[in-house]
Amino acid sequence: MLVVLKKDYDEVSREAARIVAGAVRSKPSVVLGLATGSTPLGLYRELAALHRAEALDFSQATSFNLDEYLGLAPSHPQSFHHFMEQNFFSQVNLPRHRRHIPDGTIQGDYDAYCARYEQAIKSAGGIDLQILGIGRNGHIGFNEPTSSLASRTRLKALSRETIEDNRQVFADEGEVPRCAITMGIGTILESRRVLLLAAGRSKAAAVAKAIEGPITSSVSASALQMHPDVTFLIDEEAAYSLTQRDYYRHVLEMTRLLTPERLS
Ligand code: PGA
Repeated sequence: MLVVLKKDYDEVSREAARIVAGAVRSKPSVVLGLATGSTPLGLYRELAALHRAEALDFSQATSFNLDEYLGLAPSHPQSFHHFMEQNFFSQVNLPRHRRHIPDGTIQGDYDAYCARYEQAIKSAGGIDLQILGIGRNGHIGFNEPTSSLASRTRLKALSRETIEDNRQVFADEGEVPRCAITMGIGTILESRRVLLLAAGRSKAAAVAKAIEGPITSSVSASALQMHPDVTFLIDEEAAYSLTQRDYYRHVLEMTRLLTPERLS
């Protein structure tokens, strides 16, 4: 694991954009795993700026989003479809037919739908670079605490904490989603490279458990300890509870010196 400590959210966003842009330039047909939430907003802003200023080209790229709320139409202002359109897809040239987000409006045979989502990822060649945020409860995607570490794309009941967090942004109580469709932890672990972004003190406990705690289904992000190529990009506030910050800086220095390609 590489733990990269940055001063603040803007530095996290710029470094994340540098890594994603590098992946797109070195493999134009890159398959990106994308995340929603407040954390990747800066990354999307930076990528859009690179698209405008340096013609960073997404025309051959493919994307798969981690999750979507069950019951929300793509046009719903709180849907992840809407989020992605507003904050990223409308600003870059990633072709519509190669953007994938779970469909929150499906009804009936959920398992078959989720199996098709998994199959689409496989058919695209697998995810090259997966972007992740982390929830205050340690979730990645909507893999709430106690999700199986081997889980695949499926329906997931949202935790009380997540429902509470969401309540503030839904105008109508009846609309607050209780379930989501999410890639599983097993799906995420199959990505070739994982980039987890975290900023702010509210994430410090989850970040420390994910990086330095035991691997446990109680903290879904701790499963990333089993991934061979994961980078945690953390700002000072989110790194607050990590006990080995000096060691992570030393690892980074040695990596720069000996295997700089791991940082590109
Ligand atoms: P946030 O959400 O980026 O809005 O903090 C992260 C998450 O819950 O995965």
